[in-house]
Amino acid sequence: MKIKAVYPGTFDPITNGHWDIIKRAAKLFEQVIVAVAANPSKAPRFSLEKRVELAKAVLRDFDNVIVRGFNCLLIDFTKQNNAQVIIRGLRAVSDFEYEFQLAGMNRNLNPEIETIFLTPATEYTYISSSLVREIAALGGPIDDFVSPIVRVALTQ
Ligand code: COA
Repeated sequence: MKIKAVYPGTFDPITNGHWDIIKRAAKLFEQVIVAVAANPSKAPRFSLEKRVELAKAVLRDFDNVIVRGFNCLLIDFTKQNNAQVIIRGLRAVSDFEYEFQLAGMNRNLNPEIETIFLTPATEYTYISSSLVREIAALGGPIDDFVSPIVRVALTQ
C-alpha cells in the first residue's frame, strides 16, 4: 500500500531536528509533504514564503519530499493532498500532552486520517526553532542546529 504523509509545522525556521524526522519519514512513506503552516498566531520571524523557500533548499536532496505552504485546517490540507497520515515529532515527554490533544482533535475532524509519531536522534531532542532564533539573535553559534543556508538567513 502506497501511503502519502504530511509533516506539518511552523518551521520558523526548519532545523536539523525537523530534517531528522523528515529523513526517517521519507524512508517509510511513498511521499512526504512538508506542510508549512502560515500560523499568524505565532507571529513567525520569517514570512511563509521564506519558510517554504528555506525548507525547499534544505530538503532538495530528497526525491520523495515536497514542501508546500498552507493557511487552512491541517486536516483539510491533508485530504486535499490525498494523504492518509499526519506525522508529528516527539522530542520529550513534555511534547506528549499537546501532541495527544492535537491528534485527538484531528481524529475527531476526520477519523480516516491517522497521526503517527516519530522520535528524532538524541542529539536533536532539545532543539526548537525559537531557541535557535534566540541564540542567533544574541550572536551565539547555531551551526549544530541548522543547515548553512538557514544560518545565513538567521544572521542576516
Ligand atoms: N526538531 C526540532 N524542533 C522541533 C521538532 C523537531 N523534530 N519538532 C517540533 N519542534 C519544535 C518547533 O521548532 C517549534 O518550536 P518553537 O515553538 O520554539 O518555534 C515547536 O517544536 C512546535 O512547533 P511545530 O512542530 O512547528 O508545531 P506548531 O505547534 O508550531 O504547529 C501545527 C502545529 C502547524 C501542526 C498546528 O498549529 C496546525 O495544525 N495548524 C493548522 C490549523 C489547524 O488545523 N488547527 C487545528 C488543529 S487541531
